[in-house]
Amino acid sequence: MHIAIIMDGNGRWALRQRLPRTAGHKAGADAVNAVVEAAARRRVSTLTLYAFSSANWQRPATEVTGLFALFKRYLHTQTSRCLEQSIRLNVIGRRDRLSPDLLSLIESSERATAQCSGMRLRIAVDYSAQHSLLEVCRRLRPTDDLDRSRFVERLAEVDHAALPAPEVDLLIRTGGEKRLSDFLLWECAYAELYFVDCLWPDFDERALDEALDEYERRDRRFGRIDESRLASTGHG
Ligand code: IPE
Ligand code: IPE
Ligand code: MG
Repeated sequence: MHIAIIMDGNGRWALRQRLPRTAGHKAGADAVNAVVEAAARRRVSTLTLYAFSSANWQRPATEVTGLFALFKRYLHTQTSRCLEQSIRLNVIGRRDRLSPDLLSLIESSERATAQCSGMRLRIAVDYSAQHSLLEVCRRLRPTDDLDRSRFVERLAEVDHAALPAPEVDLLIRTGGEKRLSDFLLWECAYAELYFVDCLWPDFDERALDEALDEYERRDRRFGRIDESRLASTGHG
């Protein structure tokens, strides 16, 4: 199962506690650890977290710097935790605008966990689905014979994904907004969407279970009709 999460609401969480926004991001980073470990225990195969969108560069420089500092700290402290739990870490998104020290940190975390066979943890940084899709198109040559699986391979290349991404089964967005904000537009074609008011720093293992319970109740038809139900109403 592939779960993707738009981790939104850190700023409002901080505002409620009369703290600076960066304190909200710090609390958000702590929530990441708990949710990653809970997802791994539930045998989620892929977890993709939206940490920084390409649109987020438009925020004040101090906030952007604070977010990247937290991200570096996350890689520093959590790579060994990932190894212990056999979690394979992969940062997806653009790399041409990241600082050299962050880049080498990303590469060393990815290298260190490359053999891990448990959950795949993908963290989206400087990510824009529209940018990725456009970039695949830009790199096409007239002789390219594309089908869906080759397209997904190209998308993985553009996104620096270690492996082509499976389709998203469940997309969770915290913080109450009901939009995708340019996240995984291709991969979410048939995702179940789950929007929850809970602000990201308050999202925990129990909240994840509530989302999974809701997912279990959904009827995923993929365009088909449910013949067993038709039969049971006698109108088959
Ligand atoms: C999500 O929280 C974290 C990032 C976008 C990096 P926000 O910072 O967007 O929090 P709100 O939406 O302002 O509350
Ligand atoms: C989406 O949240 C991006 C991340 C969670 C990293 P935003 O707060 O940036 O999205 P908008 O501005 O509400 O669409
Ligand atoms: Mg937000």
